[in-house]
Amino acid sequence: MAKLHFLLLFSLTSVSFCYKPVIIVHGILDHASDMEDLASFITQAHPGTNITLVKLFQELESFTPLWRQVSAITATIRPVMQNAKDGVHIIGFSQGGLTTRAILETMDDHNVDSFISLSSPQMGQYGDTSFLRPFLPSIAYKDIYILFYTAYFQNKLSVANYWNDPFHEDLNNEYNIFLPVVNSLNSSKFFNVTAKEQYKKNFLRINNLVLIGGPDDGVYLEDTFGLHSLDERGSLHRYTFSGVHHTHWHGTKKVFVEAIEPWLT
Ligand SMILES: *[C@@H]1O[C@H](CO)[C@@H](O)[C@H](O)[C@H]1NC(C)=O
Ligand SMILES: *[C@@H]1O[C@H](CO)[C@@H](O)[C@H](O)[C@H]1NC(C)=O
Ligand SMILES: *[C@@H]1O[C@H](CO)[C@@H](O)[C@H](O)[C@H]1NC(C)=O
Repeated sequence: MAKLHFLLLFSLTSVSFCYKPVIIVHGILDHASDMEDLASFITQAHPGTNITLVKLFQELESFTPLWRQVSAITATIRPVMQNAKDGVHIIGFSQGGLTTRAILETMDDHNVDSFISLSSPQMGQYGDTSFLRPFLPSIAYKDIYILFYTAYFQNKLSVANYWNDPFHEDLNNEYNIFLPVVNSLNSSKFFNVTAKEQYKKNFLRINNLVLIGGPDDGVYLEDTFGLHSLDERGSLHRYTFSGVHHTHWHGTKKVFVEAIEPWLT
């Protein structure tokens, strides 16, 4: 009988205390419920995990400029973190992974253990704009910088915040209020050395950065926000999978088993 009690207690505690809560931030044009496939992989692998799907900026609202998303999502997930004394894990998909990076750079009280960036445009986007076609007048992607590198679009459209046109870096540095800032580029008009140090310090509170992407997802990442330090510490983990369609990353079991599950303990 005592043994049975012990087993019962053991199984209850292992369910409640083994796995850290997981927060999932969806991508552009997604509904939070689109992430339920990923959530169910987690629940199957680690029963009892408390999973929060962030239900803000869904569908068309995902075009909200990113600094506004950063502050609203921060306010929503802070209590989840505060309830988790051993920390949380956070998974950001697509645009949600970039938003999450900015959250972790600007929050000095987060307790994220693993940050998993799933097919996210961490170095911005240039090219394929097919998803924008219904929302913008037809314009070649080579020319979109004319719209996006303006104060108007920077304050209106998330995509403008991470548009990274290699042929117009000067305008990007002058007008972009987001990506060059979270990357702490000293060529940005908004560069601020105090903020840079703070962002890096905040970001380095994570224990693991897991970058998951396709072979063309942009392997070069700026070093200015702490990547090099993470790498030296053995905290940077990269996974590349070929042949995964962008919308299928969170529902592909192989990606979960090989690249996500090991970091959710
Ligand atoms: C899951 O986490 C949320 C946020 O911290 C909390 O409000 C909720 O009570 C938790 N649910 C369970 C079943 O523990
Ligand atoms: C600007 O940043 C680059 C790349 O991090 C660095 O090599 C350079 O020394 C910096 N310049 C100044 C003036 O700080
Ligand atoms: C630079 O960043 C710090 C910390 O975020 C902020 O307090 C300060 O006001 C900023 N300075 C300028 C000139 O924007």
